[in-house]
Amino acid sequence: MIYSKIIGTGGYLPERRVTNAELVTRIDTSDEWIVERTGIRARHLADASQTTCDLAEMAARRALEVAGISPAELDLIILGTTTPDMIYPSTACLLQARLGNHGATAFDVQAVCSGFIYAISIADKFIKTGAAKHALVVGADIYSRILDWQDRNTCVLFGDGAGACVLTASDTPGILSTHLHADGAYHPLLHVPGTVAQGRIQNGDGFTKMHGSEVFKFAVKVLSDVVEEALRFNQLDSSAIDWLIPHQANIRIIQATAKKLKLPMDKVILTVADHGNTSAASVPLALDIAVRDGRIKRGDLLMLEGVGGGFTWGAVVVRY
Ligand code: UT7
Repeated sequence: MIYSKIIGTGGYLPERRVTNAELVTRIDTSDEWIVERTGIRARHLADASQTTCDLAEMAARRALEVAGISPAELDLIILGTTTPDMIYPSTACLLQARLGNHGATAFDVQAVCSGFIYAISIADKFIKTGAAKHALVVGADIYSRILDWQDRNTCVLFGDGAGACVLTASDTPGILSTHLHADGAYHPLLHVPGTVAQGRIQNGDGFTKMHGSEVFKFAVKVLSDVVEEALRFNQLDSSAIDWLIPHQANIRIIQATAKKLKLPMDKVILTVADHGNTSAASVPLALDIAVRDGRIKRGDLLMLEGVGGGFTWGAVVVRY
């Protein structure tokens, strides 16, 4: 049996840190409202010169360095993003060129905030079937560019960043299981309606539209279902989970999932206060932070989960 093992993680946040206090000077909101409803206190925003590929490259190089793998050894690069640099080529191909890799399979995955969960699940299948040996999996988004900064319902929630991990084929676990779902019927609840034709955005604009409270309820429900599905599949009791690494959209959604798992909050990796929702970067950034600060140790059992526009959602169980 071939497993995929995480042998390196990396993360990158743009330098500029924007606190709730700074947002209060620009829109009709308050630090109290944002903290109480979401748990977010600050977020990092890319500057105008930075691209999603720039952020991805920083995170990827850090992950490769820890893994001790050179870019040339990669045979698979999958990048989850909703804010690609170009319509085409994929940001994964742009990243491949930056890293100086030639010939690996490289493509983007569009699953919004579940982008990394989708990407690592696909990479796992390539490795399990013997189609790849060393995979780079990245979640990167400059989500701030698809926000209307006058819309207080959405702009306070998101931030920019990138997270990455390197997977290698191993005869010991490894990723134990992956569970992906989607239901496109819910797409009106969270979407960016615009499309490009005749050189312009058509059919609406390029800003995020969200029905927050419906998204909230949907997220709580499907995350509870998918973590239970993942436990059942592995015949595990939730007490076996050492760390929950959730998508960092809202502290109240995270608390609901932890409660469902009967996990105390000190077993949950939290970055939401300082990063906000970094979309596809959220889970790998949280993973990287907890690996680097020594909380996550070799042998620990991890539950990764995410939910996003589509709707898409999923979970990954990993013996780290
Ligand atoms: O990865 C998935 C991406 N999205 C999410 O995960 C978002 C999920 N949803 C949420 O996190 C929450 O629904 C929100 C944080 C977006 C909103 O929290 P809520 O408790 O569901 O509030 P609400 O939508 O019921 O809005 C309550 C009030 C409204 O005022 P009225 O109509 O009751 O007078 C909003 O206009 O809060 C108002 N409001 C704000 N007030 C101050 C909305 N945004 C703000 C704001 N500052 N930034």
